[in-house]
Amino acid sequence: MMRFFPELKRLCAGVSSYISRKSSPVCGRLWAGQWMRSCSRTSQIMKEGSQDNIMLKHLISKIKSTGPISVAEYMREVLTNPVTGYYQHRDVLGPQGDFITSPEISQIFGELLGVWCISEWMAAGKPKTLQLVELGPGRGTLASDALRVFSQLNSMLKDSEISVHLVEVSPKLGEVQAQLLTEGEQHLRHDPNGAIYKTGTTKTGLPISWYKDLQDVPRGFSFYIAHEFFDVLPIHKFQKTKHGWREILIDIEPNSPEKLRFVLAPHATLASKTLIQNDDERDHIEICPEAGIIVQNLASRITEDGGAALIADYGHNGTKTDTFRGFRGHQQHDVLTAPGTADLTADVDFSYLRQMTKGKVTSLGPIPQHEFLKNMGIDVRLQVLLRNTSDPGTCTGLIDAYDMIMNPEKMGNRFKFFALLPCDRLISSNDTRSIKHGPIAPPVAGFSELQL
Ligand SMILES: C[S@@+](CC[C@H](N)C(=O)[O-])C[C@H]1O[C@@H](n2cnc3c(N)ncnc32)[C@H](O)[C@@H]1O
Repeated sequence: MMRFFPELKRLCAGVSSYISRKSSPVCGRLWAGQWMRSCSRTSQIMKEGSQDNIMLKHLISKIKSTGPISVAEYMREVLTNPVTGYYQHRDVLGPQGDFITSPEISQIFGELLGVWCISEWMAAGKPKTLQLVELGPGRGTLASDALRVFSQLNSMLKDSEISVHLVEVSPKLGEVQAQLLTEGEQHLRHDPNGAIYKTGTTKTGLPISWYKDLQDVPRGFSFYIAHEFFDVLPIHKFQKTKHGWREILIDIEPNSPEKLRFVLAPHATLASKTLIQNDDERDHIEICPEAGIIVQNLASRITEDGGAALIADYGHNGTKTDTFRGFRGHQQHDVLTAPGTADLTADVDFSYLRQMTKGKVTSLGPIPQHEFLKNMGIDVRLQVLLRNTSDPGTCTGLIDAYDMIMNPEKMGNRFKFFALLPCDRLISSNDTRSIKHGPIAPPVAGFSELQL
């Protein structure tokens, strides 16, 4: 086997310490079956605390003044409304929250994504400046694990200028991230109304900044990581009818003015006229235009500045229909009940992301998580961690966490990895004639075996 990156061998022996994770055995957003399926079904409104009542009242008054709203507008308001949005003021991840994610379950997950960045940085010829950009970083755990790998490889990276950029709408999660990644909020510079709303230095001495929008992240050679980010972006839903595609909207239940229900738009809406391009064989589709805009932005940045994007999420290749669902307390939750108290999510349509970036960048995947992590050497990493601990409880925890993220019956198959790379990244590796002209490009780790 060819050896492209002998330096990465160090990783197997280097990043070896166990980091305790207090994870739950239940992965709330994981077993997402079909939950709420009828377009005309009315939700039960639970009488709860004031927070969700405020959101419900806000939505009802909005609908009263402008008419039924799209599912996208509903999702945007419920999740990210600056005052009462679900993500704004609470730490929603982990056993005490509503769901748990792979980086929260196993430290190896973020470490291997850190290795992926380094292997692509090497494949790009080790550019001097390198930005790690994470979209929707949750508690900052993935970034922390990836940055530990960067520190371990300090001898290789010491001449590089590395900076960290977090795109996060939630002030609460921004605080949690700062707590983990820096010496704390009091050591950061705050500018609540600025495009860069927080800046400082990581515990490992790297410049770190927070943004609400990817557009504000400085241009430059970057790795963009988005884990369970695209699935929370607002989707439009459409139903095929005998009159053509009709958008599904959210309205007030006529006989119960404190309840919401789904209705079909009587006529074509702007969204149904502009978003549905081809005649689809499915009778129900979900489209996320915000995801399209973000991947187009990523594609332009990768083309002009270099780098790559790694998108990991649950999703499909343009085959699924109704995937919109809610999660609360690790259980599925009716999407129209008590809005603002539960996470809302929909499977990512990777075929749509590919279509939006076609011609600008090369895409790889989606491939199942277990395949990506296996290719990245998760088994070797697990063995190193197990060898370095004598505590039986820690060993069991490591093995259980591995099983949770790798087992195809658990997270291994449901979650997929998808990459955006510069157009020329794969050319020479696929074209043996190019041997005459230059060296063979190394394969992209994760999508094929990591070369040690
Ligand atoms: C499902 S959580 C995933 C967290 C983390 N990536 C993980 O895997 O543990 C979604 C994250 O995206 C953030 N988020 C949601 N909508 C966003 C938006 N429009 N722009 C930026 N961040 C957003 C949330 O606050 C949260 O940090």
